[in-house]
Amino acid sequence: MPGCSVLALALVLCLLPPCTGQHHREEAERIMTTTPVIDGHNDLPWQLLKKFNNQLRLPEANLTLLNGTHTNIPKLHRGHVGGQFWSVYVPCDTQNKDAVKRTLEQIDVVHRMCELYPKTFACVVDSAGIQQAFQSKKVASLIGVEGGHSIDSSLGVLRTFYHLGVRYMTLTHSCNTPWADNWLVDTGDEPPLHHGLSPFGKVSGDSVGSRAWEQQPGGRRTWCWHPPAPCWLIKPSSGCTVCPPFMQGCHSPSCNPHCPHPHPCRQCWRR
Ligand SMILES: *[C@@H]1O[C@H](CO)[C@@H](O)[C@H](O)[C@H]1NC(C)=O
Ligand SMILES: *[C@@H]1O[C@H](CO)[C@@H](O)[C@H](O)[C@H]1NC(C)=O
Repeated sequence: MPGCSVLALALVLCLLPPCTGQHHREEAERIMTTTPVIDGHNDLPWQLLKKFNNQLRLPEANLTLLNGTHTNIPKLHRGHVGGQFWSVYVPCDTQNKDAVKRTLEQIDVVHRMCELYPKTFACVVDSAGIQQAFQSKKVASLIGVEGGHSIDSSLGVLRTFYHLGVRYMTLTHSCNTPWADNWLVDTGDEPPLHHGLSPFGKVSGDSVGSRAWEQQPGGRRTWCWHPPAPCWLIKPSSGCTVCPPFMQGCHSPSCNPHCPHPHPCRQCWRR
């Protein structure tokens, strides 16, 4: 009976050590314990604001016991997260209002996470810091600003964010800024205002990129989420738009529906 032989085959395969699924898992765990996996985006700081108004000392905000969120400390350890860009997201409706203040408050909550849980998190700002944190079995914690509305069109604010540890900023979230169009322009839900970046947008994009990735060979600037296709293809001073290697996955549409188009990122990086 064919059914029986399939069953027998399945049994034999699973009895053969190591069973393939388990083997892949062990291989993945081996790699992740020797090479830091860096997650480019995590909204836990936003959850901490929404659920606890950033009061980290509330018993129910304890990051070890936290449930009802994608992230807590045991899950980070089980998932072998070596580095994490914590997103200091504030919504688009704060634009031209209190976006800067509220972004600062989200940066503050990341700094306080590192202070309250020093055995788990190490706030770092560069690749040497990531390596050091990884060697001491801590989650290297970095900061990403999610959307250019957070700087209120001010390069001074952008530079100050850098001094506070911010190491990337996406150009937009789901709203145009006065200097960059957002991804809704691609879907036709919003009309283009700048057809990509305005001249100021190019300057600020350059500031973010060169600052953020000056330590990375070849890397100059970054965006990943939310800007529309024209932004991706802008070719400022370095000649191409570059993503750091660990963010290249964002170009897969299956990985991020906001990145529906292929992009010459990888080739640029290698150049
Ligand atoms: C989730 O956390 C809350 C607050 O700390 C606690 O009361 C609840 O029992 C927890 N639930 C589970 C399933 O662990
Ligand atoms: C969180 O809970 C754990 C386990 O109960 C405890 O050891 C730790 O001190 C708590 N941390 C904070 C910051 O409250």
